[in-house]
Amino acid sequence: MWRASTTYIALFTVIEMEILKVDGLRKHYRKKGRAGRGVSVVRALDGVTMSVDRGEIYAVVGETGSGKSTLGRIVVGLLEPTEGSVKIDGSDIFASGNSVLRNMRRTVQIIFQDPYSSLNPRFNVKQIVEEPLKLNRIPFTMDDVLDSLRTVGLIPAEDFLPRYPHEMSGGQRQRVAIARSIVMKPEFIVADEPVSMLDASMRASFLDMIAALRKERGISMMLISHDISTAYYASDRTGVLYLGKIVEEGRTDRIVEKPLHPYTKALIQAIPSLGKVVEKKVDIKGTMRSATGQLRGCQFRDRCIFAMQKCEEEEPELHEAEKGHFVACHLY
Ligand SMILES: Nc1ncnc2c1ncn2[C@@H]1O[C@H](COP(=O)(O)OP(=O)(O)OP(=O)(O)O)[C@@H](O)[C@H]1O
Ligand code: SF4
Ligand SMILES: [Mg+2]
Repeated sequence: MWRASTTYIALFTVIEMEILKVDGLRKHYRKKGRAGRGVSVVRALDGVTMSVDRGEIYAVVGETGSGKSTLGRIVVGLLEPTEGSVKIDGSDIFASGNSVLRNMRRTVQIIFQDPYSSLNPRFNVKQIVEEPLKLNRIPFTMDDVLDSLRTVGLIPAEDFLPRYPHEMSGGQRQRVAIARSIVMKPEFIVADEPVSMLDASMRASFLDMIAALRKERGISMMLISHDISTAYYASDRTGVLYLGKIVEEGRTDRIVEKPLHPYTKALIQAIPSLGKVVEKKVDIKGTMRSATGQLRGCQFRDRCIFAMQKCEEEEPELHEAEKGHFVACHLY
């Protein structure tokens, strides 16, 4: 009886619903003042809590400097947080030491904005796609390489093997970057502005390819973009970042079609194809402050046309305003 129950426990592994869970994440940089005088703190991330479900595409949107890449780099273990935890598949990647980070090299991949600078110009496509397998001493066959190229739409795959980065278009280079990631059979990919350097005609087909990857291989994804229309096209849920904090989060269609936070409304209005879905025009003042200074109360209040006394006195917490739709604003 004892033996049987032990076996049962050993075989029973809990499958986490979330592939990624981030809790209270902060990343503060110390920056020397002018002429080396004084030190200021850059709050690149200032208390981010979020999660990505298995098979989900979660978009992170926000202006330049809002902390998107910092979040992306931390969740793949390229950067250590100042505070907070990151769990991949239930394991805390920073608390558990190097072994978890080492095992993650296969499970988690990141692709960057500029496919030209992230691909070695002296390597051809075959060498580029094989490289992570060789570096991690993972046995493979040429079929694995060809299969990855076909999956990202580089067909006939054999024709691409001898090509160098300068012999391909931006869209093809970005597909090679994805092929190099998926050859590792990852469960989770962070894509940091993957389409911002592609022209409009290539964006949609690239995003369709990402959607197919999720469907066919069940890969979960954090899709980072300054452009909320990219999130609308390709993601299930969206988190809107402002000065290192999530100010709105929920299903992407709800966020775009019925945004709550004044900042999200302004982001949507800035995109001509989306602007019309917001019923009432919401202006915002000026540009985002530097991440060094902190205001009392709401960090957005210096730009918000709805700011009231309470916004100066109390920082709004992210709370559920509607089912599954969270916002950090005193208007709700
Ligand atoms: N190594 C660093 N030292 C000091 N400050 C940094 C460092 N890296 C990032 N920052 C600051 O942290 C903040 C967030 O930067 P981050 O690169 O995450 O923004 P982002 O949202 O990805 O912007 P972009 O859309 O321009 O890529 C910015 O104010 C940036 O200047
Ligand atoms: S809390 Fe106040 S200042 Fe901040 S976004 Fe809402 S209304 Fe504007
Ligand atoms: Mg960035």
